[in-house]
Amino acid sequence: MLEIPFVDLPPLHGASGTAVLPGSKSISNRVLLLAGLAGGETAVHDLLDSDDTRVMLAALKALGCTLRRDGPVLHVGGLGGRLRVHEASLFLGNAGTAMRPLTAALAVLATTQGGRFELRGVPRMHERPIGDLVDALRPLGCRVDDLGQPGYPPLLVHGDAGGRLEIGRPIRVRGDVSSQFLTALLLALPLVAADREVAVEVDGELISRPYVEITLNLLARFGIDVARDGWRRFTIPRGSAYRTPGAIRVEGDASSASYFVALGAIAAGGGAPVRIEGVGLDSIQGDIRFVDAARAMGGDVRGGPGWLEVRRGRWPLEAITLDCNHIPDAAMTLAAMALYARGTTRLTGIASWRVKETDRIAAMAAELRRLGATVVAGDDFVEITAPAPHAWRAASLHTYDDHRMAMCLALAAFNPLAGATPARPVRILDPRCVGKTFPDYFETLFGLAWTPPETVPVITVDGPTASGKGTLAAALAQRLGYHLLDSGALYRATGLAARSAGVALDDEAALARLAARLDLRFDADRVVLRGEDVTDELRLESTGALASRVSAWPAVREALHGLQLAFRRVPGLVADGRDMGTVVFPDAALKVFLTAGSAERAARRHKQLISKGIPATLDDLRADIEARDRRDLNRPVAPLRPAEDALALDNSHLSIDESVERVLGWWDERRPFGTPPAG
Ligand code: DC
Repeated sequence: MLEIPFVDLPPLHGASGTAVLPGSKSISNRVLLLAGLAGGETAVHDLLDSDDTRVMLAALKALGCTLRRDGPVLHVGGLGGRLRVHEASLFLGNAGTAMRPLTAALAVLATTQGGRFELRGVPRMHERPIGDLVDALRPLGCRVDDLGQPGYPPLLVHGDAGGRLEIGRPIRVRGDVSSQFLTALLLALPLVAADREVAVEVDGELISRPYVEITLNLLARFGIDVARDGWRRFTIPRGSAYRTPGAIRVEGDASSASYFVALGAIAAGGGAPVRIEGVGLDSIQGDIRFVDAARAMGGDVRGGPGWLEVRRGRWPLEAITLDCNHIPDAAMTLAAMALYARGTTRLTGIASWRVKETDRIAAMAAELRRLGATVVAGDDFVEITAPAPHAWRAASLHTYDDHRMAMCLALAAFNPLAGATPARPVRILDPRCVGKTFPDYFETLFGLAWTPPETVPVITVDGPTASGKGTLAAALAQRLGYHLLDSGALYRATGLAARSAGVALDDEAALARLAARLDLRFDADRVVLRGEDVTDELRLESTGALASRVSAWPAVREALHGLQLAFRRVPGLVADGRDMGTVVFPDAALKVFLTAGSAERAARRHKQLISKGIPATLDDLRADIEARDRRDLNRPVAPLRPAEDALALDNSHLSIDESVERVLGWWDERRPFGTPPAG
């Protein structure tokens, strides 16, 4: 999906249904690197497709690994520990899970086999520390140059063939800033453990241990059995060599599961649970322990291998005090759950939040305050007290290019369940940052969320033929992330169905029966009628003529009424067509009546037809359009008339973008969020 500046969530009242989770980011990027370093081919099943995995894949490709997609399976042909490419510049976005281990692996390979590798990322990546890893690598004889600020990417790692690594003594690495430095070393050092044992010792308290467990678990799958002495010393045995397991499955992301566990604990109050598939109680990911925290707050969580089911247990939720060192990422979700808890939730052991995608302690505190919560933030803790019912505010929430901020904050839209009076919509800025780990997060959430239809915002767009209303409506829906109802398409499809079923266009009852059973699907930008793609046929003038006939029958209009109402779903709807603002959605929050002079509309249609190689003259087209206007205006059933409360927009001299901006301006005046940021 294209970038959109914000998505508005209406107040949400409940949730149930099944969420299928995308693959784990931590497992995906480790598996990719291991498969890339091992020899032979590894078939990777259920790999996460996200920003962070894409940069890792691009890096592997640049290094000469082969990547072959076969449906849902990715076959990775690895290097077998031998560099194929000795010089490359790798862009790693904001993926810590790519930057740290690739730095270590390439440093080791460049030192022993020769090479020059530059590793860089987005500006935020250049603010995320890597100095502790560099400090561990340099004493081994690895040449690692800072290309920017010392201790931060971008970096250049380089070496001459035949160099020797000083790994006779234990390698020391700090463990109290990020566990990824240890992980990076553990993933890289088996490359040089063929003829000697390699030991790594951790200085300081090792944080985020569950992530190190994932690393050890996956190393074992690739033939490396690391011996562990507490959390201080890790030994890679002599004779170690990567061996592909042949095939490996990536389990669903336990951190991503946390949003849906929270969702169930907050909003699955009606009996039906929120079910999560792809990750379960057997998960190797540490964040699965979030389940215990959610239970402690009141969630009723059951589960088995590969699945979880969550319902509301105690309500309201209970505040907890928890050291979150074991679930650093999922702990953010507890901050969102605190909005629904009685008492003050205190999360400690979260100093690592400060060096993640953003300073998550500062970011979370600022945004929860915007919602009306009371927040106290310290160096390594945060305390959150939910807003009182009247203190909730309609907030425009910043996400700091941090996927987890966006995913957590969306849960604030369930404020009606906390008794918020009035219920508040929530605006999430830059929602596409979820692409880092969960590109379809909002779609998945909206598929489970429920709210009374009348609370889902609707914008209607209507106007005479060739006014550009279809284009405007589609552009608005795209920009707002709303559903789109092209009601004309329903009449057009009914016309096509009638023609192929041999139903006469004056048989009102038979046409209405057809319309009521219309088997129509809108798949992305295709329209499928009874399993057949009719997208192009739908737009033909001849289909328009059929639609004009069938739409004149009241029984047909009645038959399509319910189908049209069903498009009113979270987070909102843009509905285009004749009676959208008058009959189908009379309570729409904004009604636009788009007009343009007949000369202008004739000129646009002319351009369109000529570009398709269809001959036409301007005068004829203008006469046609004016005749159609008269017919549309005067027809007894559903005449073309603006709703009384519609805003007229004459777009004769406006480009499509200008019309879109004008309408978005009107829309924003009607929203409670204030002026959106520029851009
Ligand atoms: O907007 P369109 O060209 O796709 O519409 C096709 C026909 O259906 C046109 O004759 C208007 C009619 N129509 C209608 O009667 N009610 C609607 N809500 C939408 C279209």
